[in-house]
Amino acid sequence: MNLLIMGLPGAGKGTQAAKIVEKFGIIHISTGDMFRSAITNQTKMGILAKSYMDKGELVPDEVTNGIVKERLAQADVSEKGFLLDGYPRTIEQADALDAILSELDMSLDGVVNIEVDPSLLLERLSGRIIHRETGETFHKVFNPPAAGYDEKDYYQREDDKPETVKRRLDINIAQGTPIIAHYRKKGIVHDIKGNDEIDAVFSNISKVISSL
Ligand code: AP5
Ligand code: MG
Repeated sequence: MNLLIMGLPGAGKGTQAAKIVEKFGIIHISTGDMFRSAITNQTKMGILAKSYMDKGELVPDEVTNGIVKERLAQADVSEKGFLLDGYPRTIEQADALDAILSELDMSLDGVVNIEVDPSLLLERLSGRIIHRETGETFHKVFNPPAAGYDEKDYYQREDDKPETVKRRLDINIAQGTPIIAHYRKKGIVHDIKGNDEIDAVFSNISKVISSL
């Protein structure tokens, strides 16, 4: 099964993606995670990506399309299927994805579109904490680690500062609408209410995916 998960920054894409790939056994491909890992490894692409991400702007399409194409062509993806998270983010990327999938003889089965009231997003992002060792995402208030947490074991994302979040939201609101329209025309978009708590959202997503 080949899926996209879409939604504004903080909508819960990464949180739901972790649950989806665990339950359905497909491969999670997050362009944001790939860029953050390149930044950690200080690769040339990581240094380039950081200069955009720190401002809350999009990494150029040719770079992003290149890493997605490379990842989708790997054997585990054709064997197990994929869940793309954070891609496509421009209409050019959506067109590139159509071309990549057709070249690889693959197609999309569905788009999970998480809709969250924008007023909730700032609070979600400013409280997000990530476990250094496992990379797992939590929230200080909405989803704290079960055993409590020691600040030094967690970090906050550089681009979760309020001024950067505002830029990310503006860009994603402007760019996201035509992309959803692109997939609505294909009749594969499933809208999911994302305001509820994490497990309730997942239960609705699971029902949709199970029906595909
Ligand atoms: P990316 O990493 O994709 O970030 P994003 O789209 O801004 O989304 P986030 O990861 O911030 O949010 P999320 O929806 O995953 O929320 P999460 O589940 O963590 O991209 C980062 C940057 O990389 C971009 O700005 C760009 O520069 C670059 N980039 C990436 N892809 C690109 C592309 N295709 N083209 C060009 N550039 C690209 O949840 C957020 C918080 O809320 C967590 O703390 C979580 O615990 C909590 N939470 C989740 N669900 C709920 C809930 N239901 N109730 C309460 N709290 C919740
Ligand atoms: Mg994410």
